[in-house]
Amino acid sequence: MYEKLEKILKEAFQKSNYNYEPKIIKSNIEEIDFQCDDAFKLAKEYHKAPLIIAEEIVSNLKKEPYFNEYFKKVSASKPGFINIIVSDKLINDNLKKLISKEKFGVKKENETIVLDYGGPNVAKPLHVGHLRTAIIGQAINNILKFKGNKTISDVHLGDIGAQMGQVIYGIINDFPNKKYEEINFDLNYLNVTYPKMSALCKENEEIKQKCAEITKKLQEGDKNYHILWQKIYNLSVTDIKRIYDYLDVHFDYWYGESDAYKEFPEMMKYLEDNHYLKLDEGAKVIEVKEKDDKIDIPPCIIQKSDGAYLYATSDLGTIWQRKKDFNPDEIIYVVDARQSMHFTQIFRAVKKTHIYEGKLAHYGNGTVNGKDNKPFKTRTGGALKLEDLIKEVKEEFVNLRPENKNMDEEDLDKIVNAILKFADLQNDYTRNYIFDIKKFSEVNGKTGPYILYTYLRINKLLTKNSGNLSDNIYNETDRTLRLKLLEVTNIIEQASKERKPHYIANYLYELSVIANNFYQNNHMTGLENEIKNDYNIILSFNNLVLKTLLNLLGIHIPKSM
Ligand code: ARG
Repeated sequence: MYEKLEKILKEAFQKSNYNYEPKIIKSNIEEIDFQCDDAFKLAKEYHKAPLIIAEEIVSNLKKEPYFNEYFKKVSASKPGFINIIVSDKLINDNLKKLISKEKFGVKKENETIVLDYGGPNVAKPLHVGHLRTAIIGQAINNILKFKGNKTISDVHLGDIGAQMGQVIYGIINDFPNKKYEEINFDLNYLNVTYPKMSALCKENEEIKQKCAEITKKLQEGDKNYHILWQKIYNLSVTDIKRIYDYLDVHFDYWYGESDAYKEFPEMMKYLEDNHYLKLDEGAKVIEVKEKDDKIDIPPCIIQKSDGAYLYATSDLGTIWQRKKDFNPDEIIYVVDARQSMHFTQIFRAVKKTHIYEGKLAHYGNGTVNGKDNKPFKTRTGGALKLEDLIKEVKEEFVNLRPENKNMDEEDLDKIVNAILKFADLQNDYTRNYIFDIKKFSEVNGKTGPYILYTYLRINKLLTKNSGNLSDNIYNETDRTLRLKLLEVTNIIEQASKERKPHYIANYLYELSVIANNFYQNNHMTGLENEIKNDYNIILSFNNLVLKTLLNLLGIHIPKSM
């Protein structure tokens, strides 16, 4: 419908010789459906008051033979708005079309897009900080897939960093005189050993050095250390997978930084042969400064003077591998915004060295904060384990009402997911937000449970559809709901174009409020058949929209709640 209206409006602009592509937006004023604010933009260029232009356009529209078919009322208002109230017929014609379309008529795209999100580190349990990249990354993945793109997701495990050397050192000390093959430990052991070793390395420089030496050997392919590495990897990655599964976060590839090491010989030769590397105090670097930089962008360090490779090298090597294996049109990173300097350096190095010519994007997410507006911590000040957060949310919801205690376990897990994800995804991902467990678990307010509840309530009213939507609209709440449903296509397009799931979350909330209002004001019982049938069609479609968009956010509907 937006396209149609914009086309009609464009003709009206052209009649007065304004060559312009007007845009219409949903109006915030209750009595008005849409508005066009473009008279303001043309005012400067044509040296005319915006109101004069708006009046010209309105008068052009009114002369059209189709005016009454499309519009109920069009008017110009100070200082230059064009206000539009569309006809009921236009709403219904478009709604009928929309209902018959597959995927709400979104335009099909056909790109190959690699998505890098999650990014957990092996040997460390997932904590709250890992929640956002997983949830946001998966939502963007779902949206881009819905649009028809071929997406390839890769978790990009941090599997060869300093923590691996530290944990291996700890194991060797805890199991002296034992062959590496024969050493056995479990996840609990790992969960204790990593923080213990990490703390030890902070206070003891000598041990820290020894651990770093192990990490370096590991990176060089040491077979013995690799035995312990593999044991750590298996335990830790199984646990990470379990929690991602719970969150319905999935990856096509479980590659890690260590997989990039296989690419280094080939990539380093390429970089050397083409003279892209500079020596800087013994280290090999790629200069990435540009003359318009407002801040200092340090060189991208590829290899330290002792021969060790770094985080940046593994990201370059990974791009090298992705280009070779997938030849994608784009690579997207959903990683904490605090890593934006790293990605600036990487992206520049890639362009400069022509390792990959496709699009690169870093969507830097903000943090999940506690009530003090600082990154979420446990009461004792440590990072809160993701699993503990999940447990806390579940407990909160179970204790909300007595009947929740008897809920089906699977349904409960769906609700926990809805609470976590809707709390997160309603915010622009670039912003931090305060996670208030109480507030986000409530069935009222801008929460996941509220949307689920709306869906389930409406679902109970539905019967099988028979016949087509009539040409009537029965009252204001009905009209408002139909108009809101017509927005769905644009919302998905916008979320997909900007890679911002919060457009979908916010729309879901607004639609739910309107749908609740609709069924509270229009009782389904005792209605004439035609009205009843119309309402049934509209509410079924409403629920299809809710369900589809919830799924895009990774939220699934419980059987009951
Ligand atoms: N493991 C990294 C960290 O915890 C995040 C990885 C993000 N992805 C990437 N390709 N660099 O900081």
